[in-house]
Amino acid sequence: MSARFHQIGGEQVTWTLVLSVFSAVLGSLQFGYNIGVINAPQKIIEQSYNETWMRRYGSPIPHSTLTTLWSLSVAIFSIGGMISSFCVGIISEWLGRKRAMLINNLMAFIGGALMGLSKLSHSYEMLILGRFVIGVYSGLASGLVPMYVGEISPTRLRGALGTLHQLAIVIGILIAQVFGLDSIIGTEELWPLLLGMTVLPTVLQMTFLPFCPESPRYLYIIRGEEHHAKKCLKRLTGQQDVSDDLTEMKEEKRRMDMECKVSILELFRSPQYRQPIIIAIVLQLSQQLSGINAIFYYSTNIFEKAGVGSPVYATIGVGVVNTAFTIASLFLVERAGRRTLHMLGLAGMSICAIIMTLALALLERVPWMSYISMLSIFGFVALFEIGPGPIPWFIVAELFSQGPRPAAMAVAGFSNWTSNFIIAMSFQYIADYCGPYVFLIFGVLLLFFLLFTYFRVPETRGKTFDEISSGFRLLNTEQKQSTELEYLGDGSIS
Ligand code: GLC
Repeated sequence: MSARFHQIGGEQVTWTLVLSVFSAVLGSLQFGYNIGVINAPQKIIEQSYNETWMRRYGSPIPHSTLTTLWSLSVAIFSIGGMISSFCVGIISEWLGRKRAMLINNLMAFIGGALMGLSKLSHSYEMLILGRFVIGVYSGLASGLVPMYVGEISPTRLRGALGTLHQLAIVIGILIAQVFGLDSIIGTEELWPLLLGMTVLPTVLQMTFLPFCPESPRYLYIIRGEEHHAKKCLKRLTGQQDVSDDLTEMKEEKRRMDMECKVSILELFRSPQYRQPIIIAIVLQLSQQLSGINAIFYYSTNIFEKAGVGSPVYATIGVGVVNTAFTIASLFLVERAGRRTLHMLGLAGMSICAIIMTLALALLERVPWMSYISMLSIFGFVALFEIGPGPIPWFIVAELFSQGPRPAAMAVAGFSNWTSNFIIAMSFQYIADYCGPYVFLIFGVLLLFFLLFTYFRVPETRGKTFDEISSGFRLLNTEQKQSTELEYLGDGSIS
């Protein structure tokens, strides 16, 4: 692969870097596709479950059994993700970042085949198992992709390139929403193709990824392979002299060699890591407990209740707004900084949640409130993508140095998937119970996350991994047990 340059955001990057990031985020596209794909064809797949049931037992499927089978088909995806995201640390250390992504594709093939062939085999069990396997794939991808991209990106572009993970997710969701229309392949005959199509990005990734270099940080800091790391660095940067990067990695390795191996338990025990791991977890919670997936899983239903005319098209509108604002974030993240954008997003989402609640509450008396609720949902999604969507995914890789990073990614991924699962399972019950006031709960949670970000989250833009983790390092050895360095809201240190 040639190391000719290409301009991104005023920074020269090599084609090798472009290809590597592109190949990696094909995994994120796959993850997004499977978030979005199950929404539109619900009715026709349920019908197919019913046909299978009739074939087997000679009578229509009981309503409650169908509901259970469907909920399971949707939610088992997050269970797969919860389990596998927890293993990201071990797998990425054992196989390396690139090889782990490559081998993970096996999961996508198995998952895609199980789902795509389930109708032909008259087996809803196959579909449910396929959703679980593709969930396992997505859980691994949600950790491996940001880790690899974060490690190969130049410091000044780490945020923008990190946002590409989220951009690929939202494009995946949008593609799934559009293909899922009954005028495209969300039909009785073609839905297996819709679910099976998930193997396409897999084929692309398997074609390109072998030509991409392994993460030099992994090679040097974890495997001690200096020569190999240098070769990969040269390809990624296009420079013959990579001594600056190497010196930075050497410093990180020196520090890491002085520490013991960082296990998940150690992250919580050691005062040095406790603060960043709490930040990492709360940021994941701020992403999921913002209520975003209540929209992505149930938007058609929400729009219907809000009196919107064509709910399916409004859902596609959500996908478009979602994508457009992720692109905006791509350009903003290296200018405004992570912390500011995250706070802006949370504050705006909270306001939108309050407006949405008012609009839903007034709907019976003021019919045009349906437009206000639709606009507030669009605003809610747009502001999500300004900060809370992309930032939690890549900031975890930034908050930790090489040693604790894999364990931290595992904990963060697990928190993300678990809270995703909780919202997916409970939203409809809570919505039934609270009626129009359901989004008020998210509004309050968002305010809490806003305060947390203001007081606890440091700015990481433009800092090297080492500078960021130094910010959290102990004041001095005597104070080891009692005093931690704390970041103040403005990013300074107390
Ligand atoms: C983030 C979330 C995911 C959500 C998506 C919406 O990637 O992790 O759960 O569906 O954003 O754009």
